[in-house]
Amino acid sequence: MSEGDPRIGELLSLARAVSRKAYSPHSGLQVGAVVEDAQGHRYTGCNVENASYGLTQCAERNAMATAIAAGAEPGSLHTLLVYSTGFEILSPCGACRQVMVELMSAEATVISCSEDGEAQTWALSELFPNPFVLE
Ligand code: THU
Repeated sequence: MSEGDPRIGELLSLARAVSRKAYSPHSGLQVGAVVEDAQGHRYTGCNVENASYGLTQCAERNAMATAIAAGAEPGSLHTLLVYSTGFEILSPCGACRQVMVELMSAEATVISCSEDGEAQTWALSELFPNPFVLE
């Protein structure tokens, strides 16, 4: 999915809507993510924080977990869009990148959108080159 594709607006609407469900009393940041598979099915997730900070779950990983739980084929997940309040552009954390490499296609695209309408697009291979994988 390239920049300018009208489906990006649809993904942004879904990510923004789910960001409003974030449980983020500690940071105050609301993050929403949506991942799309080859059939056009879309799966969403928001960040869920915890007083034991390390237990916080990011929006991107929650969206991918939702996709897997719904039966999506990992290799068919081709686009992930993340939306966040509070950042110009949220750059997905390292843990999420590692999980993207395992659960998304090798040619996947990652898009990050800000509250003020800025967007950045990466190839996953560019966002996380030379990942750890088991053969
Ligand atoms: N967060 C995400 O949801 N995704 C990321 O890629 C980075 C950080 C969330 C986790 C936490 O709730 C808040 O942003 C601040 O770290």
